[in-house]
Amino acid sequence: MRSLSIISGALTTLLAVRGVLGIGGANPGFEEAQQIQRDQFNRMRDKFLGPNSDDFLSKRQSPPQTINFSNPAAQQFFVPGTSIPDVTFDAGPSWSGLLPISGGPGCSSLEGFLQENGPISWSWGQSAPTPNQFSWTNLAHMIWVEQPVGTGFSQGTPNITNDDELAAQLVGFLGQFLEVFSELKGKDFYLSGESYAGFYVPYIANFIYENPGLIDLNLKGIDIADPSLSYDVVQDEIPALRFAQAHSDLFPFTEAQWADFQNISDTCGYTDYLEKFVTYPPAGQLPFPAGVVEGTFGTLKSGCRLHSPIQQAVGVLNPVFDVYRVSDTWPSLWSVLGFPESTQQFIYFNRTDVQDAIHAPHINWEICASRSVYVTKTGAQGNDQSVASMLSIFPNVIEKSERVVVVHGLADFILVAEGTRIAIQNMTWNGAQGFQTPIENETFTVDGFGVFGNEHTERGLTYVEFYYSGHMTPQFVPWAAYNAISFLLGLQETPST
Ligand SMILES: *[C@@H]1O[C@H](CO)[C@@H](O)[C@H](O)[C@H]1NC(C)=O
Ligand SMILES: *[C@@H]1O[C@H](CO)[C@@H](O)[C@H](O)[C@H]1NC(C)=O
Ligand SMILES: *[C@@H]1O[C@H](CO)[C@@H](O)[C@H](O)[C@H]1NC(C)=O
Ligand SMILES: *[C@@H]1O[C@H](CO)[C@@H](O)[C@H](O)[C@H]1NC(C)=O
Ligand SMILES: *[C@@H]1O[C@H](CO)[C@@H](O)[C@H](O)[C@H]1NC(C)=O
Ligand SMILES: *[C@@H]1O[C@H](CO)[C@@H](O)[C@H](O)[C@H]1NC(C)=O
Repeated sequence: MRSLSIISGALTTLLAVRGVLGIGGANPGFEEAQQIQRDQFNRMRDKFLGPNSDDFLSKRQSPPQTINFSNPAAQQFFVPGTSIPDVTFDAGPSWSGLLPISGGPGCSSLEGFLQENGPISWSWGQSAPTPNQFSWTNLAHMIWVEQPVGTGFSQGTPNITNDDELAAQLVGFLGQFLEVFSELKGKDFYLSGESYAGFYVPYIANFIYENPGLIDLNLKGIDIADPSLSYDVVQDEIPALRFAQAHSDLFPFTEAQWADFQNISDTCGYTDYLEKFVTYPPAGQLPFPAGVVEGTFGTLKSGCRLHSPIQQAVGVLNPVFDVYRVSDTWPSLWSVLGFPESTQQFIYFNRTDVQDAIHAPHINWEICASRSVYVTKTGAQGNDQSVASMLSIFPNVIEKSERVVVVHGLADFILVAEGTRIAIQNMTWNGAQGFQTPIENETFTVDGFGVFGNEHTERGLTYVEFYYSGHMTPQFVPWAAYNAISFLLGLQETPST
């Protein structure tokens, strides 16, 4: 009889054998645990989430073409769903290519397309792309735009200083777009975005509402996910320690570390901020905590950074700690788009065969621009000069929209959900400040999953928090993000199903 053994590192000899827990063993609990795990895998393979679900199979056949464009110019943009490199199924018809955008944080919408809400899912850790049964294309015609100038495949030199200028350029693009794809003129229109799009999307919507007649589309609402929309101190510093404490299995600090963080939190006025000020309804405008330098717009006193010391400390313990989804542990998941980390030979959209398939130029494509997409008045690289959306134009957008949805993943630490709650409580829209009644726990449900987070609606603003989700909500909990979008589009009465 022979057996395989592997010997290496021969300083001492260690014999490694792996027993199978549960089989014939003394502990029936193990057997039960294994059976539950097998059932769980089947749920992904079969009816519900898997490739064998009836729903899934019917979408896998060539999806019907639901629109045809009569302008011959549209034809040059056509991408048959069977000709996309490495995609072995029919992803359905699409149109892709460069169109003028008159005219710039600079991350590509193609991340959304390939890893979040498009018909093809090639997400972190997936060796090959699969059809996305939760594609938002099941609900609406989707346009993914690489903007502002300086992002992804966009061409030209950034020349904007703020998001009103960004909006003007995007609206210019949409005008050109509608000349080619004129069958889309007059349609109901919604905007959606993630992360820094918490600036972009509300500003674009505000620009469209304030300049009626500029484009032939009927804007009805917006959705922003894990958005930047207020001061850093609000979105990161105040909620940082509470977040780590609530996830202490993933932030296993020593007592000495906890004491240091607690000291910062107490000294800088973060500890009791929520209890004191974030009430429903709020008692008045929310002040800055003691950690902010008097007379500044959120500048922190030295020693009052808490978010980055926590991130730094946890990153020592968990080398693949992912601020975009704190539940990630070793090993690091590869991503074909190279984000958050590039661990493989190719970046999908940087391949010339992929670029050819989607009528893109042969350039070095990066998921996030390495230089700023904003300039200063003198044309040097600059920062966005816009005031954060919830401190400026957001109320107007809610008041003019049919529905406005803000969602946030509860496992996101780059922007913390509790910070979004603070920002909402400090905003005045439709005649009152903040939500008047508390966001009740366990109020967001998803068919087939049960309770999946919290939701709350008042005066045209809906806020939803998702369990298990990091920053990229449609990537991590596509069923939940799909419900929120379906609600935005008026296809269901509440985000919950
Ligand atoms: C679009 O054109 C295709 C091919 O000519 C046709 O099969 C399809 O029914 C058309 N779709 C619509 C919505 O008109
Ligand atoms: C940016 O450049 C474009 C094209 O040259 C021009 O039309 C536009 O007015 C400029 N925008 C700003 C904000 O300077
Ligand atoms: C708390 O922080 C302050 C300011 O950094 C420091 O002076 C003080 O010694 C710290 N207290 C404790 C108990 O660590
Ligand atoms: C609350 O809103 C007011 C008015 O916009 C603003 O001046 C203040 O800085 C905000 N406070 C916080 C903590 O964001
Ligand atoms: C993108 O492709 C070009 C060549 O086509 C290569 O020089 C460059 O290193 C690639 N970039 C990345 C991030 O892989
Ligand atoms: C909601 O849940 C959080 C923790 O998940 C808890 O701290 C809070 O007290 C709960 N709120 C209510 C009103 O029960």
